[in-house]
Amino acid sequence: MNTHPPIICLSDISYCYPGAAAPVLDRLEFDFFAGNHTGLVAPNGSGKTTLFHIIMGLLKPDSGRIEIFGKTVSEEKDFLEVRHRIGLLFQDADDQLFSPTVLEDVAFGPLNLGKSKQEAVDISRRMLASLGLEGFEDRITLQLSGGEKRLVSLAAVLAMEPEVLLLDEPSAGLDEKTKEHLIEILRNLDISYIIVSHEIDFLADLADSVYTLQNGKIVLDTELHLHEHVHAHTYGRQPHKHD
Ligand SMILES: Nc1ncnc2c1ncn2[C@@H]1O[C@H](COP(=O)(O)OP(=O)(O)OP(=O)(O)O)[C@@H](O)[C@H]1O
Ligand SMILES: [Mg+2]
Repeated sequence: MNTHPPIICLSDISYCYPGAAAPVLDRLEFDFFAGNHTGLVAPNGSGKTTLFHIIMGLLKPDSGRIEIFGKTVSEEKDFLEVRHRIGLLFQDADDQLFSPTVLEDVAFGPLNLGKSKQEAVDISRRMLASLGLEGFEDRITLQLSGGEKRLVSLAAVLAMEPEVLLLDEPSAGLDEKTKEHLIEILRNLDISYIIVSHEIDFLADLADSVYTLQNGKIVLDTELHLHEHVHAHTYGRQPHKHD
C-alpha cells in the first residue's frame, strides 16, 4: 500500500484523434507513485505514445482529470512545470533533437531551466560522457546514426535532472552492449520512471511491475507474469539453474 498520494493521477481519461472512428484512450485510470519503476508493453497502435503525450500536455484529453505532483493540470501554463519535472524521451529522436550540434541539443534543457551557460555545458558534457558519448559535443545532430541520436536524446532528457522519466522505447535500435549500459545507468538513477518497450527482457531488468493497454485502458499485464520465466533471461526455454 502506498501511503503517499500518486505523483501522476489520471482519472477517466478519454482521447480520440480528430477524425478517428474510435477513441485511443477510453476512460483510462492510472496512478503512478514516487519510486515506481513501471513497464508498459502493448501492441503497436494501442496508445502508449498518446498516453505519454497526454501526461506531458502535448495532447489535451477530450475528458477526464489529470493531477500531477498533487495539482490538477489542464491549461498549457499548468504543464510548463510538469515539463520541467518530468522528462519525456520521444519515440522518434527527430522530435527531440532540433539544434545544429549535439552539445547545443543537450544544453538546451538546462539553459531553458535557468542554468548559466557554463553550468549547462558542464552538465551536458557530464551526461554525454556517462552515456559513452565523449567527443560527440561538436557533432552535427542530423548526421548521427539512429542509435547515437537515441543516446543523445537520453542525454538531453537526463540533463534536465527530471524527477520522473517517461521513456518511449529507449532501447529501440541500440546494440546489446549499449542496452546493458543503459540498464546500468537507469538502475543507478534514483528516479521514478515509466518505460514503454516491446523488449520483455529489457523491461524484466528495469520494471517492478508491467502494465498493458487494452481497449484504451491500462491494466496489469498478467500474461507477462505467466511468461516471465521464459522471456526474462538469455537462456529462454533451455534448461538452466537459478542461483
Ligand atoms: N496524429 C494522429 N492523428 C490520427 N491518428 C493518430 C495520430 N497519432 C497516432 N494516431 C493513431 O492512434 C493510435 C495510437 O497511436 P500511438 O502512437 O499512441 O500508439 P503506440 O501504442 O505508441 O504504438 P507503437 O507501439 O507503434 O509506437 C494508432 O492507431 C495511431 O494510428
Ligand atoms: Mg509509440
